[in-house]
Amino acid sequence: MDDQDHGRGGPALSVHGLSKRFGNRVAFEDVSFEVGRGEVFGFLGPNGAGKTTTVRTLGTLITPTSGSAEIAGIPLVPQNAERIRRRISIMPESPGLYLRLSVAENLECFADLYRTPDPRERIARALRTVDLADRADDVCASLSKGLRQRVALARALLSDPQILFLDEPTAGLDPVATRAVHELIDRLRRRGVTIFLTTHRLEEAERLCDRVAILNTTLRTIGRPGELRDQLFAKSLTVTTLAPLPDPDHIFADLPAVDGWHPDGSCGYILAVSDPAVAAPAATRALVGAGADVLSISSLHHSLQDVYLELVGTDTPADEQAGRR
Ligand SMILES: Nc1ncnc2c1ncn2[C@@H]1O[C@H](COP(=O)(O)OP(=O)(O)OP(=O)(O)O)[C@@H](O)[C@H]1O
Ligand SMILES: [Mg+2]
Repeated sequence: MDDQDHGRGGPALSVHGLSKRFGNRVAFEDVSFEVGRGEVFGFLGPNGAGKTTTVRTLGTLITPTSGSAEIAGIPLVPQNAERIRRRISIMPESPGLYLRLSVAENLECFADLYRTPDPRERIARALRTVDLADRADDVCASLSKGLRQRVALARALLSDPQILFLDEPTAGLDPVATRAVHELIDRLRRRGVTIFLTTHRLEEAERLCDRVAILNTTLRTIGRPGELRDQLFAKSLTVTTLAPLPDPDHIFADLPAVDGWHPDGSCGYILAVSDPAVAAPAATRALVGAGADVLSISSLHHSLQDVYLELVGTDTPADEQAGRR
């Protein structure tokens, strides 16, 4: 098989029972998952959960303690590190630029280090992609945090990676700079780049990621954000009326797709439902038929943040757990 085509068609990342320990500290343990080609995959978890260590391990910077993985179809073993690195790129938590050099000089250094073919063209293209073409001659020390982050992204793009690991790419960025990074991720997705994104911004994961995994030393869950919501939370409707209903049980008890109800304040009612699209119109008709003044009927929307808090909100902090082992 041609080296460039190795494993094409299979998953971008395939991870089986992977663990990493530092002495007796467990960074992550028995982690298994797959990421499809061209997928944007979110990797969430509290501080010390093992996200960066996972990125460093999959990126061939450190070796796992046990388990196995394939990166772009190539087995993750030390003798394959160089072949794997030709297909991936990592944008680390801190940009790590030479502050006394200009933006272009930084990229030239790294292009040289990576032995990037056609470096001038690649650098120009990477700078255009992150919208920094006009800052090429600025010294990195004079750039704001957000701009340095974008230089680091340009550096990660120099090698034209199939798989891009982004470790908290929007940490500390303002909303406009954050949106610029999100748009860039969308553009890379359209180009078919697989993106492995660690983040603490749950709304970012919900908006950008096809699937997310939640890690807290071990993998807690994995799936599409909507699926995780449905797995964890029962569907419900909230009904608010102008005045308390005299006999709510009479109205709600026999409605189709309504499994039960409980009061929420004096004029609010929460209905457990199997299908909101059936239950909401039926509840509306029943309420109007009973002469109630309805202020609102809405489905209760659980966010990815609710899922996250449900799964890790009551856990012992990962740092303490790891330290105790
Ligand atoms: N080189 C190292 N030597 C010893 N322990 C390490 C090393 N690197 C990471 N660890 C430990 O492994 C655990 C996981 O750390 P990691 O940096 O992967 O977490 P993280 O999920 O990226 O956290 P954060 O959200 O704070 O970035 C922590 O307990 C950390 O202290
Ligand atoms: Mg980290």
